[in-house]
Amino acid sequence: MSGASGTALALAGASEVLRLPAGAETLERLAQSRAGELTLEPGDVVIDGGLIAGFQADSGCARVDCRGLTLLPGLVDCHTHLPFAGWRADEYALKVAGAPYEEIARAGGGIRASARALAAASDLRVLEQARALAGEMLRHGTTTFECKSGYGLSADGELRALRLAGELISSVPQVGTVTALLAHAVPDGYSASDWMDEVEGMLGTLRAQTAADTLDIFVESVAFSNDDLVRMGRLARAHGLTLRAHVEQLESHGSVPVAVAAGARSVDHLSCMPADDIPALAGADCAAVLLPGAEFIGSEHTPPARELADAGVVCALATDLNPGTSPIVSLPLIAGLAVRRYGWTVKEALLALTLNAAWVLGRSHELGALTVGRRADVLLLDCPASHVPYRFGHNPVAAVLIAGRPMWVRNDHRWRFAEAGL
Ligand code: NIG
Ligand code: FE
Repeated sequence: MSGASGTALALAGASEVLRLPAGAETLERLAQSRAGELTLEPGDVVIDGGLIAGFQADSGCARVDCRGLTLLPGLVDCHTHLPFAGWRADEYALKVAGAPYEEIARAGGGIRASARALAAASDLRVLEQARALAGEMLRHGTTTFECKSGYGLSADGELRALRLAGELISSVPQVGTVTALLAHAVPDGYSASDWMDEVEGMLGTLRAQTAADTLDIFVESVAFSNDDLVRMGRLARAHGLTLRAHVEQLESHGSVPVAVAAGARSVDHLSCMPADDIPALAGADCAAVLLPGAEFIGSEHTPPARELADAGVVCALATDLNPGTSPIVSLPLIAGLAVRRYGWTVKEALLALTLNAAWVLGRSHELGALTVGRRADVLLLDCPASHVPYRFGHNPVAAVLIAGRPMWVRNDHRWRFAEAGL
């Protein structure tokens, strides 16, 4: 965007600016083993026409004083289950008391409980809840997020969820993407393969009727199998859709090589992934999306995250925001969990929340990094990057710019924008 007088805007004099390594500016993803090459040096970010225009403020720029602050690209939440209806705090109490997720699911809780809540809620109620959450995400630095269906559990219910996801995205400041999680729980009255027939029947009109560009499946004993995953991969290819998969969350089913062979863009969760399957991901066009919030809330195993990073896998982090396994909106909190649980560096966590997360959503050519020509989605943080994981629970976000426009500014930082005439 331009400053008050139509000139370029400079975020000037920041203590740290997170940038890609020299020569990697046009890359659309980076192996996690290269995260140490990201730089965090003092500097400026110049914005013009909604895009990053350079890194040296000149006298013609409107200036936002960023002394003492850190500048990051906007955070990308590449795995959420928005929109959904209500919450499931009662189940959390059961889990804390020792009930396993599978037991809660088999007793009609879990995904089925959220499906009932979604069916009972009006469109307006669902959208009100989702918009409030998107606002909370914005204040925690999320400038792009994924939506998923999956609580519809019928063809009409799934199409409604996908329509609501599209309406949500068109009414919030963030960029959004829509994923059709058409195989989440097996709907009552169906076998998994009968439901997959129903899914196949929906795909002819999915693109025309919804904003979905991606298919997803939950592979687990209480959900779908590796065979269903292979079939979903064939369907995705046939309909020009991206494939993603929830795998290895509660138990290992050896699903990672299956998902890679099926052409998946990402394998998500991986808490129970055996280290033997890491070579299948290293060098593949498939990211490991790790969800430490769900791991923490569900007291899950920890994925082989250090080993995945060291093997050069493209890794991303996300909230998995949903009413069951991860009622968490804050990506700074997710960074804190990842650093502690995985033994990752701050730069590893930040790479996984920006460029690589944008790659999972197919958007990293245009966002996810501070490089000339990418969208000016920029966060101003009130602390050094090293404090993001360390001050666990602190929201470091002082201001959020989307396409160069200040979309949220914390009260104690308003003066910086007022000085620039914004
Ligand atoms: O990503 N794993 C499956 N799906 C969700 C949880 C869904 C739910 O319990 O509502 C997840 O964790
Ligand atoms: Fe999920």
